[in-house]
Amino acid sequence: MIFVIPPLITGWLPFIGVTLDYVSNPLGFLRETQKKYGNVFTCKIAGKYFTFVTDPFSFSIVMRQSKNLDFQKFAVGFSHRVFGHADFSSSLFSESYREVHSIFRQTLQGLSLQQLTETMLSNLQMVLERGLPYEHDWLEEGLQSFTNRIMFEAGFLTLFGKDAGFLQADGTSGTRIWMQKAVQDFLAFDRAFPLLAAGVPIGLCAEAWQAREALAEELLHDKLHHRKCISDLIQRRMDAFDRMHLDETGKARTHVCMLWASQANTLPAAFWSLYYTLRSVDAFTAACTEVNRVFSGQLINNQDQTLCLSREQLDSMAVLESIIEEALRLSSASMMIRVASNDFTLTLDSGQTADVRKGDYIALYPQLIHLDPEIYPDPTEFKYNRFLDEKGQRKSNFFKNERRLKHFLMPFGSGASECPGRFFAVHEIKQFLALTLWHYDLQLRDPDATLVPDGTRAGLGILTPSRDVLLRYRRKTNTTTE
Ligand code: HEM
Repeated sequence: MIFVIPPLITGWLPFIGVTLDYVSNPLGFLRETQKKYGNVFTCKIAGKYFTFVTDPFSFSIVMRQSKNLDFQKFAVGFSHRVFGHADFSSSLFSESYREVHSIFRQTLQGLSLQQLTETMLSNLQMVLERGLPYEHDWLEEGLQSFTNRIMFEAGFLTLFGKDAGFLQADGTSGTRIWMQKAVQDFLAFDRAFPLLAAGVPIGLCAEAWQAREALAEELLHDKLHHRKCISDLIQRRMDAFDRMHLDETGKARTHVCMLWASQANTLPAAFWSLYYTLRSVDAFTAACTEVNRVFSGQLINNQDQTLCLSREQLDSMAVLESIIEEALRLSSASMMIRVASNDFTLTLDSGQTADVRKGDYIALYPQLIHLDPEIYPDPTEFKYNRFLDEKGQRKSNFFKNERRLKHFLMPFGSGASECPGRFFAVHEIKQFLALTLWHYDLQLRDPDATLVPDGTRAGLGILTPSRDVLLRYRRKTNTTTE
């Protein structure tokens, strides 16, 4: 066995270390450093020591170290700082927070997932139907604005339920006006997220602070009690927070946190999935064929003409799944962080060992895998069928050094921090794609213009586009099935 203390890359500047090189281009920096120093190295970033493990075969070894490597400590502290709710890592709350945490998995899988997915389908159709132009004229809107508007509202209503709804004197719905403001508040808060994540106190980001508080105002328990069809996830969190005797604003802020988790990655992921579909003739044709197969001939005998998508039908949409996975591969730039709770020695896949000290951060950067040309030839190209095998079924065998990879696509993280909403996220994006392709003729105004992801969010999840692009759309003539 070879014992190795990971090389330490501190840069020239005290405290700052290599922060500037890392922040300006994390992927480029990590690739270069990997080339120079090998698969494991420690970098000084913003005064903290991060040990990066870059060999994909060692990812599961890190994931299995839950005794020595803690995820909650970092995540809960981060959430407390950014969202302003109680510090659940304190001994006062840690026991009851374990219960709150277990609610994710109980309510985002199995029967609850089924219910959530059905509610989302119905909400998506309600939002889409309302936005459909009556005439068959073309409308223009930014694709990002289109996606955010539809997905935010449908997702919000699915989790937090609907309010009784009231009509204002001029006939406009107060609920809808609030929803338009809510999406703007959400985006204003989300725009500041990279700064907040870097440690800037929210008090210094006035717009973000106001936006967060405006969202919290609507998520106070007093108001939530008046909403109908609240998801199990939110209802059970409300009950648990009531039992913990948090103050009312603190409870509302935990719901803002949940809202952010449910939307911040989903909105850009839905954007990229639709964007790439519209840019590629092959993807568009294959996706429309699949959507037509599922919806065509669907007998609509209910009065409100809603379309159904059973779990089996959703699962059978392998082309849409591959499009979504490929869009996630290209746009995901999350960083998985664990904090060492003990001194220990990490033995990597190669047999190489790395001494880790209590308090050190261990970091994995899945984009190194997602854009590795050996695993994915032409890694920056969108190939709609990359995740399909020759039979058109989901492909899951990807190789590096002729070895099959367990972890080849990790937009949802893995191990203890794996996103509990991942199944729902894929369902809702599939539903969004299927419904928009079915109801609308859609075209990008300038399909040849290139669009790059906004790198300032690297490390935080799905990257947003650096700008919006114009979408032309109109109601299809045959959107109602016979
Ligand atoms: C955590 C990705 C959608 C709920 C995470 C993490 C990732 C992720 C990478 C782990 C973060 C970390 O390691 O620090 C995504 C992506 C999504 C998505 C790419 C969409 C494309 C959703 C949705 C929900 C959700 C729709 C809920 C309805 C959560 C929650 C956590 C989480 C609650 C924290 C889990 C914990 O503390 O253990 N997500 N997510 N996510 N996600 Fe998602």
